Amino acid sequence: MPRVPPHPERRPALVSGASSGIGAAVAVALARAGHPVALGARRAAVCEELAARIRAGGGGAVALPLDVTSDGSVSFFVSEAEQALGETEVVVTCAGEVTPGNAYETSTPAFEAQLQLDLLGTQRLVAAVAPAMAARRRGDIVFVTSDVVRLPRPRMGAYVAAKNALEGPAGAMRMELEGTGVRASVLRPGPTLSGMGSTWPVEVLRKVLDDWTRFGLARHDRFLKPRDVAAAVLAVVSMPRGAHVTLLEIEPEAPLNEERND
Ligand SMILES: NC(=O)c1ccc[n+]([C@@H]2O[C@H](COP(=O)([O-])OP(=O)(O)OC[C@H]3O[C@@H](n4cnc5c(N)ncnc54)[C@H](OP(=O)(O)O)[C@@H]3O)[C@@H](O)[C@H]2O)c1
Repeated sequence: MPRVPPHPERRPALVSGASSGIGAAVAVALARAGHPVALGARRAAVCEELAARIRAGGGGAVALPLDVTSDGSVSFFVSEAEQALGETEVVVTCAGEVTPGNAYETSTPAFEAQLQLDLLGTQRLVAAVAPAMAARRRGDIVFVTSDVVRLPRPRMGAYVAAKNALEGPAGAMRMELEGTGVRASVLRPGPTLSGMGSTWPVEVLRKVLDDWTRFGLARHDRFLKPRDVAAAVLAVVSMPRGAHVTLLEIEPEAPLNEERND
């Protein structure tokens, strides 16, 4: 049986949704670990500010415009990133948004728009790099999904649909890629303080959070930080060859009890 060569120390990485929250933190964490990163999002100028900070700190980074809902934009992102950094070793799919709304009230075009971004946008980016990774016989694909797959949350029905739908092909891909050296992994973050939800009207946010309590989905009031999720991504892609993290869920740790009597 041929020995599996270790991953190179320098692994060019593509990060979608790198202008904010989890994607920005993932780009920083990967760069600190010595992997040059291509930061992609629609707000390329924001990505560039972060890329400049990474470069100033000695890391490798390039910022590029990316709209994952567009074939042309994804092709441009991948080819420019590879020209700047080399062949893609790692892709982390962080681009995503939640449009709040009850599933039973969401119009079909609005539902479709959510799927276009969170499901098809991710698929579009992964399909642009996975075949070449398989040909090179190594690579890491990290699908950032959500704990809504395990515990659907109300008032975000189309988002729940998209994240569930994403884990289907991610699981199929994991098997399809078996033996190619490419590891497809699912990372499910729980509630994380990021840009997500920050533009929602306060009354919508209140209703969403009230429902989390009502349905037992908020055990406590703590949230993850984007850097916590980034540490999980780094753990997944840093796993030595011979091991494959197929699914990782990360949740905020509960606050310490004042006192326990049991
Ligand atoms: N926050 C949470 O509680 C939580 C929990 C579980 C999973 N997640 C997942 O984590 C991922 C990152 O979310 P976040 O919490 O970090 O939210 P965030 O701070 O709002 O970041 C979302 C990112 O997605 C990018 N984006 C949106 N539409 C895009 C498009 N069409 N093309 C390319 N990029 C696009 C945004 O950049 P531009 O606007 O500049 O394009 C932004 O960089 C998402 O997939 C989300 O579903 C989040």
